This record gives sequence, C-alpha cells and structure tokens, in this order.
Amino acid sequence: MKEKFERLHDNIELDKKSISDMTTLNEFRVKYLGKKGELKLMMKEMGGLSPEDRPIFGQKVNEVRDALEAYIADKKSDIERIEMNEKLMTEDIDVTLDFDEELCGTRHPITLAVRELVQIFTAQGYKLKEGPEIETVFNNFDALNSPIDHPSRSENDTFYFSDGLLLRTHTSGVQIRTMLSEQLPIRMISPGRCFRKDELDATHSPMFHQFEGLVVGEGITMADLKGTLTNFAKEMFGENTKTIFRPHDFPFTEPSAEMDVSCFKCGGTGCKFCGGNGSIEILGCGMVHPKVLEHCNIDPNKYSGFAFGMGIDRIAMLKYEIDDIRLLYQNDRRFLEQF
Ligand code: PHE
Repeated sequence: MKEKFERLHDNIELDKKSISDMTTLNEFRVKYLGKKGELKLMMKEMGGLSPEDRPIFGQKVNEVRDALEAYIADKKSDIERIEMNEKLMTEDIDVTLDFDEELCGTRHPITLAVRELVQIFTAQGYKLKEGPEIETVFNNFDALNSPIDHPSRSENDTFYFSDGLLLRTHTSGVQIRTMLSEQLPIRMISPGRCFRKDELDATHSPMFHQFEGLVVGEGITMADLKGTLTNFAKEMFGENTKTIFRPHDFPFTEPSAEMDVSCFKCGGTGCKFCGGNGSIEILGCGMVHPKVLEHCNIDPNKYSGFAFGMGIDRIAMLKYEIDDIRLLYQNDRRFLEQF
C-alpha cells in the first residue's frame, strides 16, 4: 500500500511539471480526479483490501484528493492571471476588465459654460451655428469692415496660412457666413475656438474660446441689444445683476459698446473678486455696421441688427472662480474633478 501511494505521489509530481496552461491543467485534473481517473480506480481496488487496511487506505485517498483540489484551484488562478497579463500586453483595450467608477470623466468647465450659454439663447429661438477654425481673411477681417492697417491684422497678432487663410482671431466671421447663407430675419449664436499670437500667462492663451451672437431683421434697435444682453446677464449671473454699457470701438459695429455686469460676489460695492471695481467686463457688442450688411448683400436702409461676442474662458473662470486660464488646458485631473 505504501508503495502504491509513493508511486502515485511521484506520478503526480512529474505530471505537475507539464502543466503550462488551462488545457494541460484540465488534462491533469481529469487524469487524477475525473470519473475514470486514478483516484476513482484506487477506490475500486479498496474492496480487495483487508478490513483493517480499508479505512486507512480510504483516508489516504481523501488526503490526496484534497491536496490535488487545492493545488488545481491555486494553479488555475495563477494561469488566469498570467493569461490576463499577456492579453493586456498584446491587446490595446480589454473591454472585459472591470472599471473603477471613480475614474469616470467630468464635464470640462468650458463645456459647462458653453452649454449654459447655448441653453439661454436657444430657449429664445436663436439658432446654433458652427464656423471653421481655419477662416478666410475676407470673413475674419475684410467683410467685417476691418481697416487694412488694423493692428489685429498684423503678423504679430494673427496666425496666417499662405493662401488667404488664417486661424480665426474671433468668432465674428460666423456672422458673415450666416448673413451670406441664411434668410432674414436672423437670430444666431456660435461658440468656438479662436487663436491669437498671445503669450501664455494667467489671463491669456493663444487658443481660447468665444461666443458670438447676431440678430438681423427689420426695426432692430440698440434697445433690443440692451434688453437682450441685460436679460442674458441676469440669467447667467443672477436675477440681481445690473449691466453697464460703455462706449467702445469695433470696426464691424456702430455704435459699439462693452458691457460690464455688477460683481456677483459683492453686488457692486467692490471686492477682491472684481478688483474693487464693483463690476466685471463681460463682452463686446454693437449695432451691425451698415458696411458689413452691404458686404453680405443686405440693404442697410431696410434692415438693421446687433451683434455681441464674449470670451467663454473668461465666463467660465468667473463662474467657477478659476484664477488662471492655464488650468483650463493642463488636463490635471485634480483640477477637472472639481466640476
Ligand atoms: N469680435 C469682437 C472681439 O473679438 C467681439 C465683438 C463681437 C464685438 C461682436 C462686437 C460685436 O473682441
């Protein structure tokens, strides 16, 4: 009997050496623990033993079985781990892997700001328009009545391609595209990326975002502009927000203005947030210049309109109290997770 078990033990140890994957592990299991396996055969032999030897023999077989089962379970998880690692090395994405929900992305503050802006204006019937980031000099400057010697047109400020194309410096070119392609009356908004040769610092980025708006129709006046934008400011920054329109100069609007909103932190008394001013500059706006309408084949004697443009990065920074524009573009999870 002793000999029998020693031989069994030796065979098992020898066969263990040839286990390398799930297939060979399974063969091993069947050979010893299967229905017609070695252990079952041995149990059958038990009948021929003496009554004293039988329980000892039975117990030894059980011990061997327990040891084999434990060994197989261990080996199985080893092989699974190795095979998974191999898979991960050779496959780009393993869709069967569990994922950590904590790692789910969050919406970027720029996305949040764009969505809120779009929501406010589409609810009033504005159409959402998209314009290309590579724009013609005509749409970006000429049709917008920008004089040929305007500083913003210089090579120092604008990224030019060789063939009359540039990286748009503002979203105002979408005004031209819309007026040239749509029927009047027009009510449109257009968010998008813009580019200027600015040095990167806490408040400037060579790539940034703007949000454009344009209304053209019969009898549109400065009162419509002020009402629309004041209403917008209240929706965006709170019911108690007040607006101030300061005269300004843009080539494509006449008259032109910049709009400030009362500081939504201190309400207008002056604080650290608004730099003690009590108000914060938000956007540029004005009545569409008659020459711009003419460039788009719209009769300025019959139609009028207003336009506005604002920096989305700046809006997001104000709303979410972000003090450095670079944070928006560094993709640092510790920052992004807060939104
Ligand atoms: N395009 C202007 C800018 O980039 C903003 C603006 C848009 C002003 C529309 C008036 C009307 O500063």
